Amino acid sequence: MRYRTLGTAGPQVSVVGFGAMTLAPVYGGVDEGDAADTLLAALDAGVTFVDTADIYGMGSSEDLIGRMLEKRRDEFVLATKFGGNQDEQGILVPGMGRPEYVRRALDASLSRLRTDHVDLYYLHRLDPTTPIEETAGVLGELVEAGKIGGYGLSEVSARTLRRAHAVHPVTALQTEYSPLQRGPEAELVPACAELGVTFVAYSPLGRGLLGGQVRAAGDLEAGDWRRNNPRFQGGNLERNVSLADRLATLAAEQDVTTAQLVLAWLIDRGVLPIPGTRKAANARANAEAGDLALDASVFARLEEIVPPDAAAGAQGNEAYLANLDTA
Ligand code: ATR
Repeated sequence: MRYRTLGTAGPQVSVVGFGAMTLAPVYGGVDEGDAADTLLAALDAGVTFVDTADIYGMGSSEDLIGRMLEKRRDEFVLATKFGGNQDEQGILVPGMGRPEYVRRALDASLSRLRTDHVDLYYLHRLDPTTPIEETAGVLGELVEAGKIGGYGLSEVSARTLRRAHAVHPVTALQTEYSPLQRGPEAELVPACAELGVTFVAYSPLGRGLLGGQVRAAGDLEAGDWRRNNPRFQGGNLERNVSLADRLATLAAEQDVTTAQLVLAWLIDRGVLPIPGTRKAANARANAEAGDLALDASVFARLEEIVPPDAAAGAQGNEAYLANLDTA
């Protein structure tokens, strides 16, 4: 495993992180024993960057991390998020960017995580009812107080990132980024590079599409969130699976899996992928991507197979898209 600096002055973190949304029942049911084994396998394979959020399983992902890793707290850098709660229609609850809410949410997360500090604390989605300067202000105060090591933003525009950064330096920006989601390349990735903000890529495997295990809608359990995602529906799914199949051929030529090829491509682009899994073997395989040295020509072929905008279907349903910051 290779390691890199988080932000400009943050701690060292593994170049592949672990996204713990999958430890909550979002992509189908989760067996707690398997989830715990997976988390421990990731750490044992050299992963030192664990990413969760208060809303994953309504606290269950944080709670599991707290219980499993309390005694290993000094071995990894812990990131969590607040401000992503939604109503029944999937629309963000207003007011989650206000200072009093932020402080309350942090205390609740710290209690579930069984720790006195998190290393990185993200605003999960921009609160349309609170100026970003106000949220960045309280996050800066929490950094000064030592309750968080640094703060981050998730799914915000480059403009919002710059506004927050002017109040207090942002450590990391997290956004969906994968061969199936190339949008961040236009403005966000360059803005992060300019400001010294680490770009963290969530859903680096296209929510599993690039893992090769989802081939038909029937592969998703009844309660799987992805059933509502246009990329996993009808003809879109078929087209996306055929892109993944072509990447699988390229990966096999290099003696790696599609997931490893995609993670190596993201690392090569200077971003930090945080794949999620509920399987210890996949956690170990993903960690191995942190040691790969593939030739630039392989990445060029990946980009030929999946050019920008090749993915069929929108990133999410209407409510999901409405919660993204496009300012
Ligand atoms: P997210 O950030 O939304 O969790 P992701 O990392 O793009 O999304 O994809 C997560 C999905 O990829 C999971 O459903 C996971 O399935 P398993 O729990 O069965 O592993 C799948 N996945 C993760 N790593 C994988 C790997 N190495 N090979 C195949 N599939 C993998």
